[in-house]
Amino acid sequence: MSTLLSADNVTVTFTGGTLGRRQVKHALDGVSLQIGEDPPAIIAIVGESGSGKTTLTRLLLGLMAPTGGRVSYRGKLLSEMDRAERLTYRREVQAIFQDPFAAYNPFYRVDRALLLPLQRFGLARNRDEAYERIREALTVVGLRPAETLGRYPHQLSGGQRQRVMIARALLLNPRIIIADEPASMVDASLRATILDTLYRLKTEKGISLIYVTHDLTTAYQIADHVLVMNSGKVVESGDPDSVILNPQHPYTKSLISAIPSVDPDVSWGLDDDARVTAHG
Ligand SMILES: Nc1ncnc2c1ncn2[C@@H]1O[C@H](COP(=O)(O)OP(=O)(O)OP(=O)(O)O)[C@@H](O)[C@H]1O
Ligand SMILES: [Mg+2]
Repeated sequence: MSTLLSADNVTVTFTGGTLGRRQVKHALDGVSLQIGEDPPAIIAIVGESGSGKTTLTRLLLGLMAPTGGRVSYRGKLLSEMDRAERLTYRREVQAIFQDPFAAYNPFYRVDRALLLPLQRFGLARNRDEAYERIREALTVVGLRPAETLGRYPHQLSGGQRQRVMIARALLLNPRIIIADEPASMVDASLRATILDTLYRLKTEKGISLIYVTHDLTTAYQIADHVLVMNSGKVVESGDPDSVILNPQHPYTKSLISAIPSVDPDVSWGLDDDARVTAHG
């Protein structure tokens, strides 16, 4: 299996602090992750707030450089790519962010957000061909082109905006989509639709996904591989059954015990005193 995207032993250190006190923050501390060319896979990165998930995705997207370690695509360090290699990498590795509204210019119709990347990468010969590809991509993500095109971002629902972003990524024929909390700002039913869309991109289009989330439940549902992060380190890594059903690391166990149970017969781990306190 040849490797597409790879982070090897990456470290990110932020220095800051005030009043002469130099503070050093290790946002990432020796993290490695690989995505192979084939078969396509979904890797979930889970961990609490501040554990380093977004920092890791920013490295993988080339939005920042690691303090230590290496990030490479198709065997080439991001920092050493020539123009053509960088263009390929920029097209083949796409991002979807938590807040899709932030990706739009509110003064332009959503069409523009879809036309620009096609133009930038020279992927359509003319406007008609561009619109044809856009309609196709919108359909793949479950949107009706006629009800989506021509609208302004605020005229779409949060779930629709997020799916337009997925369509936008899809237009570029990516190999990998990196999605940082892609469904955390929409309600539960839309979350399921968005995750289902991303899952189908793997099975139907062969696109791998790096799925960043706080939510172990959805990670368990869609991932082939789960990576648990805590304080900038990967503390557990493996297939979802072993990581989530049979966690080894105390941190993973605590994350799992924090999932609210919907079964009234399953104890929440509160002892009687705590239960009395919790109920006043
Ligand atoms: N530009 C920065 N300057 C200083 N510290 C930073 C910077 N970016 C992130 N950090 C710190 O690095 C750590 C990891 O942040 P990161 O955003 O990667 O966490 P996260 O796992 O994505 O959290 P969340 O789930 O809240 O999105 C945090 O302690 C954060 O405060
Ligand atoms: Mg984050």
